[in-house]
Amino acid sequence: MSIDRIDALSPGTFSLDGQEVEFGPGDTILQAATSAGHYIPHLCWHPDFSANGSCRLCTVKVNGRSGAACTVQASAGQNVESNTSELNAQRKTLLQMLFIEGNHFCPSCEKSGNCLLQATAYEMGMEGPYFEEFYPARRVDASHPDLLLDLNRCILCSLCVRASDEVDGKHVFAVNGHGIDTHLVVNSPSGQLADSTLQAHDRAANICPVGAILHKRVGFATPIGQRRFDIKPVSQQLEEEGAP
Ligand code: SF4
Ligand code: FES
Repeated sequence: MSIDRIDALSPGTFSLDGQEVEFGPGDTILQAATSAGHYIPHLCWHPDFSANGSCRLCTVKVNGRSGAACTVQASAGQNVESNTSELNAQRKTLLQMLFIEGNHFCPSCEKSGNCLLQATAYEMGMEGPYFEEFYPARRVDASHPDLLLDLNRCILCSLCVRASDEVDGKHVFAVNGHGIDTHLVVNSPSGQLADSTLQAHDRAANICPVGAILHKRVGFATPIGQRRFDIKPVSQQLEEEGAP
């Protein structure tokens, strides 16, 4: 076993933007930072699931080298930079690309104010899309009696895939395709949600960080302006609550 591996499996501290952060055996940088009440921007990570490392929002510099904080193991003495103008500018560009690659119309979306994509974009100071929008034609699946799947808003974070696999044990979702054709698919005979085993109380039906999986008949129960990220910015919310 390498010295680095032994180091990562022992508790210790590392420096995050000049502050000492404790970590436990096997923690990633993002796990340790979140547990200690520090916000590192992220979209595809959730403390309850295995890391996926796909969105790259959590990219930090570890001893000067770039790495995804959700997949890099914490180890003693690391110098981690996260809240820098360079990294935040990269994050803003990534967010702008996510916005133009799908169809995200926040003012008419039921998830507005509860959406991690929207809240992170505000946090990173994004004021507009900057790039030209793709306006792709994507599928909306309203077949399920209780749930709506709108692929126009899917950011392919795969949290629903992991929730269905790791918690529900149903394997309802998968990510298919390559490049610009990558998309979420439903595991059912017709490919429709109604024919799948997904139920409204499943973890997979309640994990989507954006408005791609929504519950029917609860629209606007909490008025816009009074929702989670309307009340406090995402950095403050997550530093206090420790979870997305
Ligand atoms: S539907 Fe939601 S949870 Fe699933 S991959 Fe898309 S954005 Fe992520
Ligand atoms: S949160 Fe680390 S890559 Fe998405």
